[in-house]
Amino acid sequence: MPRFDVTIAGELNLDLILYGLPEQLPPERELLADGMMLTLGSSSAIVAHNLAALGSRVGFQSRIGDDPLGQIALDRLREGGVDVSLVRRVPGSTTTGLTVILHHEQWRNILTYPGTIAELTWGDLDLNYLADSRHFHFSSYYLQRALMPRVTELFQRLKSKGLTISLDTNDDPEDRWQSGLQEVLSYVDVLLPNEREACKIAGTENAEAAIAKLATLVPLVVIKRGRRGSLAQRGKERVVSQSKEVVPVDTVGAGDSFDAGFLHEYVRGSDLPTCLASGNLAGAFSTTRPGGTEAFRDAAHRQEFFRQRGI
Ligand SMILES: Nc1ncnc2c1ncn2[C@@H]1O[C@H](COP(=O)(O)OP(=O)(O)O)[C@@H](O)[C@H]1O
Ligand SMILES: [Mg+2]
Repeated sequence: MPRFDVTIAGELNLDLILYGLPEQLPPERELLADGMMLTLGSSSAIVAHNLAALGSRVGFQSRIGDDPLGQIALDRLREGGVDVSLVRRVPGSTTTGLTVILHHEQWRNILTYPGTIAELTWGDLDLNYLADSRHFHFSSYYLQRALMPRVTELFQRLKSKGLTISLDTNDDPEDRWQSGLQEVLSYVDVLLPNEREACKIAGTENAEAAIAKLATLVPLVVIKRGRRGSLAQRGKERVVSQSKEVVPVDTVGAGDSFDAGFLHEYVRGSDLPTCLASGNLAGAFSTTRPGGTEAFRDAAHRQEFFRQRGI
């Protein structure tokens, strides 16, 4: 039996979220927020944290700087039950990344200093550690600048050891949506984009056309559709799942939490309706507190929410 259910290699950093700023942000003015939260950020780390909260055994590899923000992020992940023994702390001028989120009523600004995120390299990874798992998940493809040229090789090596592989590209800050993704996709078992990302990856503005195209490239496409829930396309088979009713406080990290909920069931061999419902439940739950992991850190809150709305 492998040591882990899921291993993840990727970014580890904090999110600084500011709430209640004016809708317009004129330059040179002092603009006041009415709330703030410093919390675990980064898609990879949120997926890892929330998978562990759900009871999966998770191993995580990353590179952080030798700085206080990196330490806080690392402690959060460790406290969440994720194995972080092989996270590398690298002193130098590049510090741990940071994302600043300006939260508005209807939209948000997401400002990222990549820092060590873009410097995670092949040499930081221990393939034996990552392979000692049933499944490997990779997030934020377009932020992994240093690792990107070898992601295909990474997937290929892990697949040859019998792991299944999932990918959530998240956004491409350059909005180009290429960088060898087609080749990478040939090793992916589960692709987990939101609807917008699915269209961008497929190069079409039509969601149905995007799903049809992606379903020819990977065995299983799972599309996240915000408050409309999610759907899965496996070849010609389509499964649709409604979202869980919730009054969202903050949707930061909902997609990553969805990934955690979905993968927690997927690695146990559950059927697609169960995987989707688990993803929707985790995504909705994440919106009940700020950031991507605050809801999951509160075990009593989690048990109550899952008992009331469980699958
Ligand atoms: N307002 C909401 N109400 C209920 N569930 C939601 C809401 N927003 C997000 N979710 C859940 O979280 C999942 C991921 O959110 P989404 O916004 O689609 O992804 P991303 O954060 O990657 O853009 C959705 O598929 C849904 O299950
Ligand atoms: Mg996302």
